[in-house]
Amino acid sequence: SVHTVHSVADLRQQLSAWRAAGDRIALVPTMGALHAGHLGLVRLAQSHVARVVTSVFVNPLQFGAHEDFGAYPRTLPADSAALATVGCDLLFAPAATNVYPTGFATTIHVGRLGDRWEGAARPGHFDGVATVVTKLLTMAAPDIAVFGEKDWQQLAIIRRLVADLDLPVTIIPAPIARDPDGLALSSRNAYLSATARTRAAALPAALTAAVARLQSGASVATVLAEAQAAILAGGFDSVDYVALTDANSLEPLDTLDRPARLLATARIEGVRLLDNVAVTP
Ligand code: PAJ
Repeated sequence: SVHTVHSVADLRQQLSAWRAAGDRIALVPTMGALHAGHLGLVRLAQSHVARVVTSVFVNPLQFGAHEDFGAYPRTLPADSAALATVGCDLLFAPAATNVYPTGFATTIHVGRLGDRWEGAARPGHFDGVATVVTKLLTMAAPDIAVFGEKDWQQLAIIRRLVADLDLPVTIIPAPIARDPDGLALSSRNAYLSATARTRAAALPAALTAAVARLQSGASVATVLAEAQAAILAGGFDSVDYVALTDANSLEPLDTLDRPARLLATARIEGVRLLDNVAVTP
């Protein structure tokens, strides 16, 4: 297992000793239930700096009232063992009362970026993410912080808030870790039956096919309709959205005239799966 601290004071004491020794520091924020995708973020961080801190904190502020905050998996001993296998230097696992003491009243809201796509389906979610990430970055003051492209909108929001608040940290994006059939790794994949797990590969397959169609000149509206139909034909129960967006502002595009991102969210067996791919004109 990895050396673990629970308080901000203990975190800062360890980090200042490393800094005094000249080591640069990375923070990898997570909510735990770690899988190979998370461990890939730690490895990427290790390729940039000497010391990597992973935080595990199930952030109550980013869960809606009807969402699964209570049921979210909490597997700290297993997470610590997994982090040890990749040589993570420190695990920061604060208690909710440390992060949000009585009287806590400040939130970070990142403009309209947080209101569309996932933000429309989960009101307040990205304010919760932006607030906890701002706090984690302030607690650890890392040189770099690593976030997965799996949550593209989250990554865009974090880049925006770091720029807007002049936070002295470099955000490093990590590519999406996928299973061999293309499905993006997610703790939610474990909730799928064997049949649904097989069918779920229709989501990344539809996105990959859509990129090829867009690059061969098919219209955006046609390709989005085809992708939605392919996801449903592949066995998903519903599609929340399939959208072609500006890669940074996440505004919808009707023509592929700049670096873009194809975002999709669909449900199978009640499980909401997210995916996205880059689209270059
Ligand atoms: P969590 O869902 O635990 O994800 C932690 C980090 O792992 C995020 O940056 C996410 O994008 C990344 N990640 C998850 N699956 C991935 C995959 N298959 N490939 C690449 N990266 C992947 O995202 C959160 O936690 C929280 O919102 C957090 C940022 C920690 C704030 O509470």
